Amino acid sequence: MLFRKVKSILKFLLRFSKNNETLVKVPDFVGLDKKVTKSIFRYELFRTTLHLNGAILEVGVGSGQGLRMCIRHQEFHLDKRKIYAFDSFEGFPKGSKQDLPNFNAQSKPKYKEFSVSFVKEYLLATGASKDQVAGVRFIQGYIPDSLQKFDGSPIALLILDLDLYEPTLDSLNYFFEYLLPGGVVLLDDYDGDSAKKKWPGVKKAVDEFCRINNLILMRGYGDLTYLQKSLDF
Ligand SMILES: C[S@@+](CC[C@H](N)C(=O)[O-])C[C@H]1O[C@@H](n2cnc3c(N)ncnc32)[C@H](O)[C@@H]1O
Repeated sequence: MLFRKVKSILKFLLRFSKNNETLVKVPDFVGLDKKVTKSIFRYELFRTTLHLNGAILEVGVGSGQGLRMCIRHQEFHLDKRKIYAFDSFEGFPKGSKQDLPNFNAQSKPKYKEFSVSFVKEYLLATGASKDQVAGVRFIQGYIPDSLQKFDGSPIALLILDLDLYEPTLDSLNYFFEYLLPGGVVLLDDYDGDSAKKKWPGVKKAVDEFCRINNLILMRGYGDLTYLQKSLDF
């Protein structure tokens, strides 16, 4: 019952997104945990791009939880599209003045532990197979330098979760041209409560990119927002 309700509201949202309209913020409609609604929406966007023959990019991997979701989604749909995972895999860079006043890389020491081998082990420990893990292309290094390691594959789904102004803007500028028409960019931490407090740079980067490229940002749940490339971009 609850699931059906969630599904119908998601359908409603996606219908709007196809019309390219900005969505009004969705209230916490059924009192579900924020993480749950975020995960459901992430899955909906994954499904939206299933018909596109392009890669899935997780840019900002952290411990690998989002990556794990992508693998699970693929498994469920027998989806064999390539997955790329971009991160420094050694923690956050300093950040710029756009990320001030509250962002402080020193206050996130645990991210230094999230090396490529840590993430691989996490994936295996949470049930991914050796083949699935071996299939992920890990691209290590700090953005923007690491962007040059990308092979230029067409992109179906780009998941950006970098928390900072500069790498978010650099990634949008770099990857958007590889995004297939109909492809989706999922943007985490846009303007939720913790985003406003802790990492204000993401919103600035996204707003700047949308303004310059005349794009309309669409809303998911919580602080999830997304862009969908129009067919005539
Ligand atoms: C919030 S975490 C990502 C969480 C992840 N998406 C998940 O689902 O668990 C943000 C990640 O962005 C990475 N990051 C931030 N700035 C970066 C940059 N300039 N280059 C590469 N990685 C960066 C950090 O190392 C960190 O792992």
